Amino acid sequence: MTSGNDQELLRHHGDIDAAPGLLDFAVNVRLDRPPRWLRDRLAAALDRLGGYPSAEDDRSAREAVAARHGRDRDEVLLLAGAAEGFSLLAALRPRLAALVHPSFTEPELALRTAGVEVTRVVLDAEDGYRLRPEAVPEEADLVVLGNPTNPTSVLHPAESIRALRRPGRVVVVDEAFADTVPGEPESLAGSAEPGLLVIRSLTKMWGLPGLRAGYALGEPALLARLGQNRPHWPLGTLVLEAVRACLEPDAIAESERAARDFDRDRAELVAGLAAIPGVRVVQPARASFLLLEVDNGEKVRAVLRERGIAVRRGDTFPGLGPDHMRVAVRGPRHNDELVEAFREIVGTAG
Ligand SMILES: Cc1ncc(COP(=O)(O)O)c(C=O)c1O
Repeated sequence: MTSGNDQELLRHHGDIDAAPGLLDFAVNVRLDRPPRWLRDRLAAALDRLGGYPSAEDDRSAREAVAARHGRDRDEVLLLAGAAEGFSLLAALRPRLAALVHPSFTEPELALRTAGVEVTRVVLDAEDGYRLRPEAVPEEADLVVLGNPTNPTSVLHPAESIRALRRPGRVVVVDEAFADTVPGEPESLAGSAEPGLLVIRSLTKMWGLPGLRAGYALGEPALLARLGQNRPHWPLGTLVLEAVRACLEPDAIAESERAARDFDRDRAELVAGLAAIPGVRVVQPARASFLLLEVDNGEKVRAVLRERGIAVRRGDTFPGLGPDHMRVAVRGPRHNDELVEAFREIVGTAG
C-alpha cells in the first residue's frame, strides 16, 4: 500500500500550483474558458435541463465521437472527463496493473484506492523516457500509459504500444493530450483492436475542466464491463451537448489549427529555454507542455512564483525529482516572459 504522504503526492495536480493572479504555466488547459461558440451551445442547452438526459442525447453524442474516429457508436463510452475512465478500471477486476511512469498519477491513485495491486514501470531519462514494452511484467493484465505522455511530452510510436497487447490483457492509452499533436500520428483512437482501450478528454483543448467531459473507445464488451457499476444518467445534458459540439467538423478543424499553433509556439519556447545554460529541456517534446530540469529546482520554482509565474512541480511524478518542472506552452508573449524569467533566475538561484 502507499502511505498517506504518497497518496497526497499522487493527488497533486497543476491546479494546486497555480493560484489566482499568477501567470499560469502549471495547468495545461489551452483556454481560460470555452470558446464563445461553445458557450453559446451550452447556454442554449440550459433550456433542456428540465428533463432527464435522453437515450437519444447519449446516442447522438456517441455517434459524433464514432464519426470523428471512424468507429462504431457501440465502441464509445462517454465519460465525466478522462478521470472517470480511470476510476472505472477497477471494474475490470485486474490482478496486476502496470503503470508506466513518469505519467499522470490519477490512474495509479484510482487503482490503488480500489485495492488493485499495482506495479510501476519507470522509464529512463537517459533513454529519453522511451517506452520499452519489454519492461512491462508479463503477468500484468492491465497496463496504463499516456500518449503523448504528461509530463514528459514524449509521443510513443503506436507500434510500441501495440507491442504491449497480450491475450487477457487490457492496454489503456490515456490520450487526453492527443488532440494537441497535429494530425495525431500515433493515436490509437481509430484502431479497433482487442484489449485496447483509448481514453480521451475534451478538457485541455476546449477549456472545459469545470464541465467534466471525455470518452473511452474500445470493444463493446469491454466498455460494458467498464461501465457496469455506473448510475443511471451518468452524464448531464450539458456534457452530452459539449461532446456533440466539440466533435463536429468545424470544431475538429479548429482543434487541428490549435495543435499546429502549439507546434510552432513550442518550438520557439524550446529554443528559448534550451539556450539558457543550466536549463535542460526533455526532447523531442510533442505535446502542449515541456518537462524541464534545472539545478536547485525548488528554489527556482519559488523565485518564479515571487515573480508571479506558476509552473508545475515535477517531484510528485514517480521517476522525477525536485529539479524537474513542467511548463505549459502558451502564446508567444507569455512564452517570452517565461524564457526571460528563467534567463534571469537560473544560475543565480543557488
Ligand atoms: C494526462 C492526463 N490525462 C487525463 C487527465 C484528466 O482529464 P479530464 O479533465 O478529462 O478528467 C489529465 C488532467 O490533468 C491529464 O493530465
